[in-house]
Amino acid sequence: MTVSLEQLRRCHVAVDLGAARTRVYIKGLGLVVDEPSAAAMNTRTGSLIAVGTLAEQMTGRTPDYIRVVRPVTGGTVIDIEMAQRMLRQLLGEKLRRQLRRKPRMRAAACTPHDSDPLAQRATVETLVGLGARRVELVDTLIAAAVGCGLPVEQPTASMIMVCGAATTQIAVLSLGSIVTAVRIPIGGDAIDHAVIQHLRQHHELMLPSQAVRPLQVALSGGALTAHGPATTEIHGRDVATGLARSVHVDTAAVQQAIHAPLTAVLDGLGKILRDCPPDLVADIADCGIMMVGGSALLPGLDQMLRKATGVPVHIAERPDVCSVLGLGAMLDGKIQPLVLDPLAC
Ligand SMILES: Nc1ncnc2c1ncn2[C@@H]1O[C@H](COP(=O)(O)OP(=O)(O)OP(=O)(O)O)[C@@H](O)[C@H]1O
Ligand SMILES: [Mg+2]
Repeated sequence: MTVSLEQLRRCHVAVDLGAARTRVYIKGLGLVVDEPSAAAMNTRTGSLIAVGTLAEQMTGRTPDYIRVVRPVTGGTVIDIEMAQRMLRQLLGEKLRRQLRRKPRMRAAACTPHDSDPLAQRATVETLVGLGARRVELVDTLIAAAVGCGLPVEQPTASMIMVCGAATTQIAVLSLGSIVTAVRIPIGGDAIDHAVIQHLRQHHELMLPSQAVRPLQVALSGGALTAHGPATTEIHGRDVATGLARSVHVDTAAVQQAIHAPLTAVLDGLGKILRDCPPDLVADIADCGIMMVGGSALLPGLDQMLRKATGVPVHIAERPDVCSVLGLGAMLDGKIQPLVLDPLAC
């Protein structure tokens, strides 16, 4: 599937439906939605109770008849109807009315690299249900590269690593196209899971999923690097008694636990560099790897990659919103049509 910049310029809205967060950019308005991809529903009546941040806060705290669902998993819409209802609520009446005013509303969406036709179809159907007459799909890697300001249209290699919640995508881009790319089904969620499992197995401590981020911040600088505190105090719930308890966690052991899922990412990075023509590898050695996506903010991840590859590693200015901002820039016509035409998806 290919889409030209001209077609993208005719779109009114850009959507990035992620496993963790949903982002919407409206032409002329900018980024209008950046909320968790979650919806809380009443299973007795089928009605929606909350979406976004509020629904995410309800996770694990609801009575039986309320269920928090995630309509996007692994970068793919798995529940089209729920995704549409969630998007409608997230947009709100005011923005929906604004979009309804466009007689032939066109939407653009980013899809993970190498996503299968069924996954692409699900994204298209979701947006058609919202009133889009036509939906253009753009590879997340291209959108993110544009969004973080990489010189993708230049005849030099740019290496990008999109670290999402469900997947990590790595690519080398040159002259507006993907030279080589890989998608690894490991992301921030797998890292969170590794930390939770470590505390459960070695400390008999249950950690609510929402407490993982503060733990990562507490371990900041120590979790993935050799420096930092030797132990950190963590509060959780005893697996056997169910009572609140705190333990002193060895940061080196957490470092090992986090490394396990990251091995697949390092393998993917090595494969990309091996598959890349020598001239482009020389460019990457100079310019380095650009990290985008929410998980790029994982403390110490950039240092670990720098150590493993020996090339400079940079984190984009607003790594989590790069993909949708890149799509937005294409909608706004801020991209030179010189070589980014067409964009292979
Ligand atoms: N400050 C932070 N430190 C560590 N991890 C973070 C931080 N901020 C966000 N994350 C992680 O980033 C992930 C969300 O990133 P992002 O918003 O790019 O995902 P997504 O686009 O919804 O997912 P995907 O692209 O895989 O579908 C979550 O796993 C979250 O835990
Ligand atoms: Mg994403």
